[in-house]
Amino acid sequence: MNTDKFDLIIRGGQLVTESEIVPTDLGILRGKVAAWGQDLRGSLVLDAHGMLVLPGAVDPHVHLAMPAGRTRSSDDWATGTLAAAWGGTTTVIDFVEPELGQSLADALQSRREEAEEKAVLDFGLHMTLRWADPQTLADVPRMVAAGCPSFKAYTTYDGFLLDERGMLRAMRAVAAVDGVLMVHCEDNSMIETAQAHLVADGQMGPSAHPASRPPEAEGAAIRHVIELAAQTGCQLYVVHISTREGVEAVQAAKARGLPVTGETCPQYLLLSDAKYELPGFEPAKYVCSPPLRGAGHADALWTGLSRGFLEVVGTDHCPFNFKGQKDLGAEDFRLIPNGLPGIELRMALMYTFGVRTGRLGLLEWVRLCATAPAIRFGLHPRKGSLSPGADADVVIFDPERRMVVSSNTLHEAVDYTPYEGLELVGYPKTVLVAGDILIDDGRLHERRGPGRFLPGRLEPGVRNHSGNTG
Ligand code: URP
Ligand code: ZN
Ligand code: ZN
Repeated sequence: MNTDKFDLIIRGGQLVTESEIVPTDLGILRGKVAAWGQDLRGSLVLDAHGMLVLPGAVDPHVHLAMPAGRTRSSDDWATGTLAAAWGGTTTVIDFVEPELGQSLADALQSRREEAEEKAVLDFGLHMTLRWADPQTLADVPRMVAAGCPSFKAYTTYDGFLLDERGMLRAMRAVAAVDGVLMVHCEDNSMIETAQAHLVADGQMGPSAHPASRPPEAEGAAIRHVIELAAQTGCQLYVVHISTREGVEAVQAAKARGLPVTGETCPQYLLLSDAKYELPGFEPAKYVCSPPLRGAGHADALWTGLSRGFLEVVGTDHCPFNFKGQKDLGAEDFRLIPNGLPGIELRMALMYTFGVRTGRLGLLEWVRLCATAPAIRFGLHPRKGSLSPGADADVVIFDPERRMVVSSNTLHEAVDYTPYEGLELVGYPKTVLVAGDILIDDGRLHERRGPGRFLPGRLEPGVRNHSGNTG
């Protein structure tokens, strides 16, 4: 009998990590994972027989309280992180979006303070490069020193997009500090052309949205950005891949040994462009960029996940209320705030439609949703791991719990969910954050201490989660 004394024991579950499944107890001491073993002793014991015990999931792509024209995404740092926790995500990484004339350092400081005031989970931040002028880029090394080694650039969206020269300058600056550049890839001129045709044709409703952002626009932009990354040696992370073309481009880049990581999201795996045929303004609920896609694309994404071309599943959680926010675009689909909610359901969706269908194994599920994002953004092994020494952010997941998705019972601060009515099998039962029980059997517990900023530290030469140095 082991005589160690722990603060808390998770007894009798199957520990699932990205590399193994081990039926044993987990001991937690002073907020950290302290030991694996049989018959550990502790002050508090949680029974996990029949349960899966996972590292808390890491969502590397969320937009909480994100400014969008006249409004902001509807979840703030308090509601958004709490909703994440209910669904088994215990770390989120959001974005800093500097305002015109604001230094990157000032923008980071104020975004960090906003989060520290309200977040219930530990969080990281990516720095958005809205401009690629010499003064902005001179701040890149300071951002890395401040714990922000991941940057974000856009090939579309007024006020955000970088042209080719700007993208090259941004990539050189990021490559020089061994950082990673996340890029939203959609070809802006194709979008502008398609939008102009739709508008000229009088198609102003939300059903026009997918035709305005065709799959070819994503494929072309991803291929282009990969070539720029090859020229500059920049590590690239392609966000929210939604198309077969996107997966193929990342697959080809990997075959060349380029350090490119591909991310997709549950909405592109599980929902389709049939949603844009719903009556009235209902399609606005599904207006996100890139849009939901037609037949064949989701299959390519699932294959991409299982073959390792896509290495991360994030949510791109960016909620706007159907009433009062999405309807800002009631007369013009181009004015509908873009984005879908999803922070709460990622683990359960990927379990029900990935693991239970046999498309993914348990190890892949944990790797895609927890370990790979933690590694890619320099938070591992503190996050995304159950190894001794990791933060004791742990999910006890009931693989048999059934639930029908309803926005009435979710915790996201938004008046709908795109997954309404889906039947899920498998859901988190207990969620621990830093060794404290935050959620247990449908009850929210008091938690000591707010979420902390997590400085990301990328190890030089670690080019993606699998350690491929390209
Ligand atoms: O439609 C989306 N995805 N909105 C959020 C911002 C972004 O492009 O990731
Ligand atoms: Zn995007
Ligand atoms: Zn996003």
